[in-house]
Amino acid sequence: MLLGQLNALASPLSQEQVQKLQGLVAELNPIQQAWVSGYLAANANSAALGGVTAAVPSAGEAAALTILYGSQTGNAKGVATKLKEQAESRGLAVKLVSMADYKPTALKKEKFLSVVVSTYGEGEPPEDAETLHEFLATKKAPKLDGVKVAVIGLGDSSYEFFCQTAKDFEQRLNKLGAETVYQRADLDVDYDDEAATWITGALDAFEPDLKAQQSATGGQVVSFGAPAIAASQYTKQNPFAAELSTVQKITGRDSTKDVRHVEISLEGSDITYTPGDSLGVYFLNDEALVDEVLTLTQIDAASKVKIADEELSVRDALIEKLELTQSYPGFVEKYAIATGTPELLKLVEDKAAMREYIEPRQIFDVIRQNPAKLEAQTLVDCLRKLQARLYSIASSQAEVEDEVHLTIGLVEFEAFGSEHLGGCSGYLARRAEEGCKVKVYSEHNDNFRLPANDDTPVIMVGPGTGIAPFRAFLQERDAREAAGKNWLFFGNPHFTQDFLYQVEIQGYLKSGLLSKVDVAFSRDQAEKVYVQDKLRQNSQAVFEWLEAGAHFYICGDANRMAKDVHQALLDIIKENSGKNDEDAEQYLKDLRSANRYQKDVY
Ligand SMILES: Cc1cc2nc3c(=O)[nH]c(=O)nc-3n(C[C@H](O)[C@H](O)[C@H](O)COP(=O)(O)OP(=O)(O)OC[C@H]3O[C@@H](n4cnc5c(N)ncnc54)[C@H](O)[C@@H]3O)c2cc1C
Ligand SMILES: Cc1cc2nc3c(=O)[nH]c(=O)nc-3n(C[C@H](O)[C@H](O)[C@H](O)COP(=O)(O)O)c2cc1C
Repeated sequence: MLLGQLNALASPLSQEQVQKLQGLVAELNPIQQAWVSGYLAANANSAALGGVTAAVPSAGEAAALTILYGSQTGNAKGVATKLKEQAESRGLAVKLVSMADYKPTALKKEKFLSVVVSTYGEGEPPEDAETLHEFLATKKAPKLDGVKVAVIGLGDSSYEFFCQTAKDFEQRLNKLGAETVYQRADLDVDYDDEAATWITGALDAFEPDLKAQQSATGGQVVSFGAPAIAASQYTKQNPFAAELSTVQKITGRDSTKDVRHVEISLEGSDITYTPGDSLGVYFLNDEALVDEVLTLTQIDAASKVKIADEELSVRDALIEKLELTQSYPGFVEKYAIATGTPELLKLVEDKAAMREYIEPRQIFDVIRQNPAKLEAQTLVDCLRKLQARLYSIASSQAEVEDEVHLTIGLVEFEAFGSEHLGGCSGYLARRAEEGCKVKVYSEHNDNFRLPANDDTPVIMVGPGTGIAPFRAFLQERDAREAAGKNWLFFGNPHFTQDFLYQVEIQGYLKSGLLSKVDVAFSRDQAEKVYVQDKLRQNSQAVFEWLEAGAHFYICGDANRMAKDVHQALLDIIKENSGKNDEDAEQYLKDLRSANRYQKDVY
């Protein structure tokens, strides 16, 4: 209904409230209206959720489908939101809840459950799913006989433990007695179509029983849990063509690393971001590599191919639309079949050998080492859609307005006698020219946020490119004149070559915005020193800050650094509180539940 047609009888508002609302809306532009709408929905949801815990149907309230999502960078949340919207359009009551906000004991009251979850690390759950994932494997988990479930996983088949967390959830729920009513889907990076098909199938499976229970309880159909964000029109599916304003190398000439400070203009878009968010960046593959691939497969560059409904030349498709660097078993399998190459076909039978084979190779290495004549469309059908890369935003709009800054480490390595570059970092650092357009979108991340209270102290651990979001945090706190203390731990190989944003950091230290800075330049002395060592050296002070309510953040390398810092924190807690291993783990879990321990790792 249009607001102009609204009257007090047709809404739960009084006539006076209707008039006030009409007056306010008349003053707002469409973007402001969308923001207010998202804000009010979030408020209503949080009231309905009693702050953090999912409500369960009570007498008179209809049975509902509870959708639990676990998501780090927003993909699973996006699929869960689509599931919710489609369920609502069928007249089904739905509750959409982040696993981080879900009280595990509420499980025993569920009747219809859908789990949408991604996977991280070596087959581990995203942070917001950790507690529930663990709880389901304990003796405390309730019996779930009679509960109907459908699970969908988001992952990336280039990882060994593809969609492992979704598999775990389904297995654990089934073990507790829940019945899978629709087959689990394990979604790879290019998941939109498969997600849509699964959503339809899962809702078809839930609908009859759910509707029967809804009418049996005679309850009102209520839904809650809408996403709180008024979204930009520019998304992963519809990115904004932004101007690449600056690409500046910020490591020294003799550094072993090539790190770039990148500035992109968002002028002309409605994209906004908050410190802690990431920017999704699309890129163009290296034209020289594309031409080599076409020669190796004896394909005419002008041959037309189809990708979804779009027809374009195979050369353009390989430059703009398809993944040529990040390798994954699915490509090798399709290429093996398409070319009938015996050595590759053998790998398809042997998972471990396949892993070993793809590890040192990019996609074009596989083609280079196994050239074969192919039809243009056959080659295209072997490749998956190029995916945007995410970068932690290194600026605050309070400081840079409609710009967005990134800190990008160039992926470069020698293999099989030639230099290899990462697809996106290679494009931005080596091929893209300042002034050109890059397609971007902002990815919201509520799991990595400054404390709402400006007086709260923060400890930030961000070695290497992990410094990026902390530059944004510091700009934001500076602009807000936040009184809370800020402590930064930074590390990299050499002080003279690799001290990213050195002048800014020293300036913040001088101005007092940064209360403390501890740096670990690992190769400046005989013995290697890392940020976790610096934390340990400051054990007592770190613990005192935590006890004083500090929020603790880690950004950067997921494989080693984040694990080592986690272990250092446990040791610090044990050393200063006398807690044993289990209680120290619980201390960190409590911090995490209170959103005081947050990670942005990759
Ligand atoms: C939430 C999030 C935030 C991020 N923030 C940042 C950030 O602030 N700054 C930043 O620089 N990056 C960041 N990243 C990482 C970034 O998204 C990309 O993964 C990274 O830039 C590499 O992408 P690429 O396209 O350049 O390389 P790709 O084309 O994706 O190639 C990378 C792949 O190459 C392979 N590879 C790499 N080195 C070697 C080697 N020595 N031998 C063989 N194979 C190798 C690996 O399989 C690797 O996965 C972030 C990631 C996430 C998920
Ligand atoms: C550091 C990192 C580790 C990952 N590890 C895995 C993995 O082990 N298995 C997998 O299937 N996917 C893995 N992925 C891929 C994510 O699960 C995938 O990008 C997913 O769409 C993310 O969904 P989310 O945005 O909801 O968190 C990983 C991604 C990153 C960035």
